[in-house]
Amino acid sequence: MCGIIGYMGSQAAAPVIMHGLKMLEYRGYDSAGICTMDDGTAEIRRSAGKLAHLERLIKDNPISGTIGIGHTRWATHGKATVANAHPHKSGSVVVVHNGIIENYLALKEELSDRGHTFVSETDSEVISHLIDEKYKTAGSFEEAVRTALKDLQGAYALCVLSQKDDKTLIAAKLGSPMVIGIKGNEYFIASDMPAIISNTREMVIMEDGEMAVFRDGGVKFSTIDGEEITKNSRFIDWSPLKAEKNGYPNFMLKEIHDQPQAVRNVIAGRLREDEGDVFFEALNLSDTELNSFERVCMVACGTSWHAALAGKYLIEEHCRIPVDVEIASEFRYRDPLVSGKTLVIPISQSGETADTLAALREAKSKYAHIVSICNVIDSSIPRESDGVIYTHAGLEIGVASTKAFTTQLVALYLLTIRLGRAKGSIDLKKGQEMIAALSELPDLIKKTLELDPQIEEIACEYLTSWDAIFLGRGICYPIALEGALKLKEISYIHADGYPAGEMKHGPIALVDREMPVFILAPNDRHLVKVRSNMEEIISRGGKAIAFCSEGDLETGRRAECSLLIPWAGEALSSVLFTVALQLLAYNFAILKGKDVDQPRNLAKSVTVE
Ligand code: M6R
Repeated sequence: MCGIIGYMGSQAAAPVIMHGLKMLEYRGYDSAGICTMDDGTAEIRRSAGKLAHLERLIKDNPISGTIGIGHTRWATHGKATVANAHPHKSGSVVVVHNGIIENYLALKEELSDRGHTFVSETDSEVISHLIDEKYKTAGSFEEAVRTALKDLQGAYALCVLSQKDDKTLIAAKLGSPMVIGIKGNEYFIASDMPAIISNTREMVIMEDGEMAVFRDGGVKFSTIDGEEITKNSRFIDWSPLKAEKNGYPNFMLKEIHDQPQAVRNVIAGRLREDEGDVFFEALNLSDTELNSFERVCMVACGTSWHAALAGKYLIEEHCRIPVDVEIASEFRYRDPLVSGKTLVIPISQSGETADTLAALREAKSKYAHIVSICNVIDSSIPRESDGVIYTHAGLEIGVASTKAFTTQLVALYLLTIRLGRAKGSIDLKKGQEMIAALSELPDLIKKTLELDPQIEEIACEYLTSWDAIFLGRGICYPIALEGALKLKEISYIHADGYPAGEMKHGPIALVDREMPVFILAPNDRHLVKVRSNMEEIISRGGKAIAFCSEGDLETGRRAECSLLIPWAGEALSSVLFTVALQLLAYNFAILKGKDVDQPRNLAKSVTVE
């Protein structure tokens, strides 16, 4: 995983690269590094930890030059140390790399036999040694890179410099994303568009197996096999969103509070109240086409996978079509049963998650129709889909996904209406009722946010816990999974989510006087059953904390403590329960003094498999 940047032009390269790295820090913050080429000398600065460390290092030891490359790392091979930080240098060759080189051990052995000494534990370091080795016999820097790339197995987006050809920058891509911004004779290379869009809106999207050689104010595109190609740039007309905390102490809290507006945004312009229907700008499917699918298959990872699970409850109930929900990293390797009659829905906040992208490509190779649900405009997943439903949640910086998740839930609710109307399983009246319920949601989210002081008290009460369980039934089962994931991610408390009815089949053995069991008990058709499950916990001396719906004073009475959450109907109450669980995890983490925006070991977007 990681983010890469390259620059060649007339400006000092370091500030351009540092700005790009800041924008890419969501892809990893274990270490960062930069190299500028100054009169044939590669000036390299690297540091472990967040980008701020590298910034300080450069301030103390400035570098110059108008050509350079940079990297922000999420560790895959080797710890987060300076030695493992990119750029990696061998002889005259300097490389930054995003991806994983799968045959690096074999290459390392071969290169060691030829006298190369490795100083890091990374897979990426072999790339610099391999190019350096090829350069001994190749006629040019370009040829050295090209022949080296042919020996690499795995995924890469990389930028390469050489002290022997110090006016040239080479970029190549296979499997990991790369875009190139062009402004006259200036070139900006990056893992994504937002990292460079403040410099230029003219972008070239690199495809797998392509290379770009920048030299003398120009660029030459070719395939890795050496065939010259023409690539057209496109003008990007959307504006980058600003990362601002707006007075909040961190991005996560700001993003939790963004949710009323984020939900308004995902709905905006899409409701057709009179028709009890929904309109999507880029679904690209007629009613007849929607009707022709025999199955729906959703693929996603992490929080987005939880949204997909919630979507299954909605779509199967209201549209009467089978929905499979797949963990993207499993899907692609088991020859999945999809066909032209399957509507495949990849769900992703970033649109760059490698597993989800790979699952999309697998489904596409089997002729499935792809409609993605995504937040980041023009990212890889929507670009490769047949249709897209953007969630318009705005920039999400906090690694723990919050508003991206609730807007995914709402997008799935909207899709349910559209699909149900096309199939006739949702009639006009039902469609109108479902739409009417939505209009209340932003205000109900606001009301839920006001519960924060009570939620903080709950977090205080159970702060010393090492483990927690979250239980829910129906659509609240995926919400329980999401509550557990949020708690794990930012407070480092071990937590699991279960369907409430499954507890008695094993996990109930864990119940004791130490572990809080958070029970999601909205006032829906499952309430009676959930209450019984809660009694099973209480009768074994467990600590039951009930999250109930406003107006239900009964359920909470039996619990150790309880919280009353506004009611928005069965489907949409799941959004409000989510908000309460986000605040719960947030309060746990803050009371424990954790960094909620950049939790340890994580990255916002996981671009390796
Ligand atoms: O960008 P994506 O939605 O594809 O990301 C998928 C997961 O990596 C992501 O949801 C992750 O689980 C979050 N950190 C959860 O808070």
